[in-house]
Amino acid sequence: MSTAATGAAGAGRRAGDEPVLDVRGLHVRTRHTELLSDVDLTIRRGERVGLIGESGSGKSLTALAVLGLLGEGLTATGGVHLAGHEGNLLERSEGGLARIRGDDMAMVFQEPMTALNPTMRVGAQVAEAMTVHGSASRSQARRRAVDLLDQVGLPDPEHAARAYPHQLSGGQRQRVVAAIALANDPVLLVCDEPTTALDVTVQALVLDLIVTGVQSRDAALLFITHDLAVVATVCERVLVMYGGRIVEAGPVGQVFTDPRHQYTAGLLAASDLTAAGARRERSALPTIPGTVPPAGRFPDGCVFRNRCPAATGQCATRPPWTPRGDHGAGETASGYACFYPAGGELR
Ligand SMILES: Nc1ncnc2c1ncn2[C@@H]1O[C@H](COP(=O)(O)OP(=O)(O)O)[C@@H](O)[C@H]1O
Ligand code: SF4
Ligand SMILES: [Mg+2]
Repeated sequence: MSTAATGAAGAGRRAGDEPVLDVRGLHVRTRHTELLSDVDLTIRRGERVGLIGESGSGKSLTALAVLGLLGEGLTATGGVHLAGHEGNLLERSEGGLARIRGDDMAMVFQEPMTALNPTMRVGAQVAEAMTVHGSASRSQARRRAVDLLDQVGLPDPEHAARAYPHQLSGGQRQRVVAAIALANDPVLLVCDEPTTALDVTVQALVLDLIVTGVQSRDAALLFITHDLAVVATVCERVLVMYGGRIVEAGPVGQVFTDPRHQYTAGLLAASDLTAAGARRERSALPTIPGTVPPAGRFPDGCVFRNRCPAATGQCATRPPWTPRGDHGAGETASGYACFYPAGGELR
């Protein structure tokens, strides 16, 4: 039995919806080290789910495993299922996955230049994304490319379509990447720190277009960030990852105001989000003691126990997943894996 966060979504989900993305018992390993352990993750149509945790927690590996983009030397086991596609994506050939990527599932990563061809005009790149995946003829694709650049808020989209990536600002480039990601109306959009490199006002624009883009398509969103304020803006549900495991999950309103896992409580205390969602002075913030260990160096039992202020000898054994059924969430969508939950009763 997997330990993590599956099941019903937060508020607003329509009854009977099948998951768009259903990840079960995902493990990712090198030859020597387990990098992700027993990750469960379900996202339904129209649902926006955040994945948070410090750098080195396993967030990007989760995204890459879902997208079939793990590099050489990494093996994924478990199940990754996408609505409209039979079987386990982990068992697909690279060719089969490449078709699904950019068609039914699309991505926006931190650095837009990795997704863009520096020698090709951006309008042609958006158009190509549509023709390669067979959703439009060439001339339709060109017209739609300009429309999409307009939709993602590029000023003078006709002009922008003729520009090369280096002629645009970082924020504009990221909007082009979002336009490409949305070009084929994906059912799943995966974003990994899409606005981390952008300044705050541009960040707000890009976040807004990502949210508007997925909402208008009723798509599922997996949104990875270490920025809790961004999750509070963008997402309805949140998963907290540490040491390659999901340690807590639930509706954003629940997890951010009443966290149970000691790691989540530490993250919140170290962020500038107070329980009420207001900001406070950074200088007054406590930090989580210690640093994230390198992969393979997390303790046995609870992966957080060498940094946890509440740890006891019991934490040398693996804490079981405890569902939280309150706040109207489903039985297992919401829960945590901690023996001595913050704010809760001692178990
Ligand atoms: N290809 C790889 N080979 C070995 N270790 C890796 C590889 N990719 C990532 N890791 C390790 O896995 C852990 C999680 O990485 P990552 O998913 O990138 O974390 P995050 O995105 O949360 O910052 C890190 O310790 C990282 O060094
Ligand atoms: S299980 Fe123990 S070590 Fe882990 S977070 Fe809870 S109290 Fe801390
Ligand atoms: Mg990352």
